[in-house]
Amino acid sequence: MAVGIFDSGLGGLTVLDAVARRLPQVPFVYFGDNAHAPYGVRDADDIFALTCAATERLWAEGCDLVILACNTASAAALRRMQETWLPKDKRVLGVFVPLIEALTERQWGDNSPPREVAVKHVALFATPATVASRAFQRELAFRAIGVDVEAQPCGGVVDAIEQGDEILAEALVKSHVEALKRRMPHPEAAILGCTHYPLMEKTFQAALGPQVKVYSQANLVAESLADYLIRRPEMLGQGTVSKFLTTGDPDSVSVHATQFLKRKIGFEKA
Ligand code: DGL
Repeated sequence: MAVGIFDSGLGGLTVLDAVARRLPQVPFVYFGDNAHAPYGVRDADDIFALTCAATERLWAEGCDLVILACNTASAAALRRMQETWLPKDKRVLGVFVPLIEALTERQWGDNSPPREVAVKHVALFATPATVASRAFQRELAFRAIGVDVEAQPCGGVVDAIEQGDEILAEALVKSHVEALKRRMPHPEAAILGCTHYPLMEKTFQAALGPQVKVYSQANLVAESLADYLIRRPEMLGQGTVSKFLTTGDPDSVSVHATQFLKRKIGFEKA
């Protein structure tokens, strides 16, 4: 009954941690494509091909349902996967929709027409590929009207986090927040639209100020997955064992992952 969790690297571990806490009885197989990270600077065809390959590897682990715990893949590849590639008995879900449902105060899976919502000025922080896709604005437009979104491509932040360079990551976050505030001085809400960024949440919040509500994805995705599995229990696959797979070097990825989650994590070669 395993579920697959995919990310280009370590960022999806923030989502894995939350879903494993929310659904302790479910085995999760994590796949980090560390050999090809970061995805945020790749083009959409490349991200599509890499994400499909990783998803197939997770099917081989008995995971019929795969969560793309990567906004870049969710933005650049998910729709194309669902429309052109996915077999009928498999599902791939992204991390955007739960976030937007929370921002627009909807029930999980509420597909009613777009309506006015309380929040009017939203800052989006994401990778260059996610920002370029405009997927966030498209999904938001299906659910809300009259929301102004200012997006900041946060070049360099994922690399700094993957390399464990916290000082550089902090400096980059501060300068990206300043750049956004020059264009939108008073956002009401900020979206951390990359699964690496929850690790820098305090820095984002401090740079934005206490009046800005910061939305980060991990717990929202966990709640939405729990709800999905109640509605679609047959999507729990045959897998029985939790494990961590990487296309990178398992030893060094394990060291970084252990630092990242502050608990021991052992990766094996994908
Ligand atoms: N953590 C991923 C995301 O949510 C990937 C970032 C990247 O590989 O550039 O976008």
